[in-house]
Amino acid sequence: MLKLGVNIDHVATLREARYRGQIRGEPSPVEAALVCERAGAHGITAHLREDRRHILDRDVRELRERISTRFNLEMAIAPEIIALALSLKPDIVCLVPEKRQELTTEGGLDVVGQEAALKEVCSRFRDAGIEVSLFIAPDPLQISASARVGAQFVELHTGAYAEHFHQKLERNAEIERLVSGAEQAYELGLQVNAGHGLNLENLPLLHVVPHMVELNIGHSLVSRAVFVGLERAVKEMLGVMNGYPG
Ligand code: PXP
Repeated sequence: MLKLGVNIDHVATLREARYRGQIRGEPSPVEAALVCERAGAHGITAHLREDRRHILDRDVRELRERISTRFNLEMAIAPEIIALALSLKPDIVCLVPEKRQELTTEGGLDVVGQEAALKEVCSRFRDAGIEVSLFIAPDPLQISASARVGAQFVELHTGAYAEHFHQKLERNAEIERLVSGAEQAYELGLQVNAGHGLNLENLPLLHVVPHMVELNIGHSLVSRAVFVGLERAVKEMLGVMNGYPG
């Protein structure tokens, strides 16, 4: 069964738009996470950025205490965040590139260019009993480097697919890249997650991508929740994901 990890960053974005710098405010990303779990989500993802743009330290501490599904902490390989993650002990960390000016995580991680550093980071997390996923483009060189550095998962970046969804030629080329990337990763012993830009409209065509374990979805769920509520938005997404052949 294809699992759903809900990224609750955008709930925190809404809170920070009004309550930045204050010790409390609404909406609470933790309460949102609990609603997602009740609706059937298999995990919760939060990105603790170095600039603390949305998710804050208190959010990840409270999430660790209160959620009962898998906690996936998205993070950059910055010493301060690594130390925090090692003491927080999420179930899994997803390592992502981070640039101050970006609106969201824009590109995949350059594993090839940081192989030695990532090998060390992966072994520190492995020793602490925390799994590691690397957020990468479906690129053969990045996938083989991900296996070499000792990650357990890759999360294939579906942003280019989502962006080109309405241009058939480009979209089909992106689907091909995701299919062969998932096959390569699986053959190398990596587990395959995917995410970025996925929604109710573009998800069904991704059912041809083999070996996927989990999808991480945020923006479209929080957007849909404005109209139908979070619980229903999560249930609708799970309904579409049910069609995945597995
Ligand atoms: N996976 C990763 C690694 C991400 O950085 C993001 C965006 O925060 C997502 C998945 C979710 O993307 P979206 O919000 O577009 O669904």
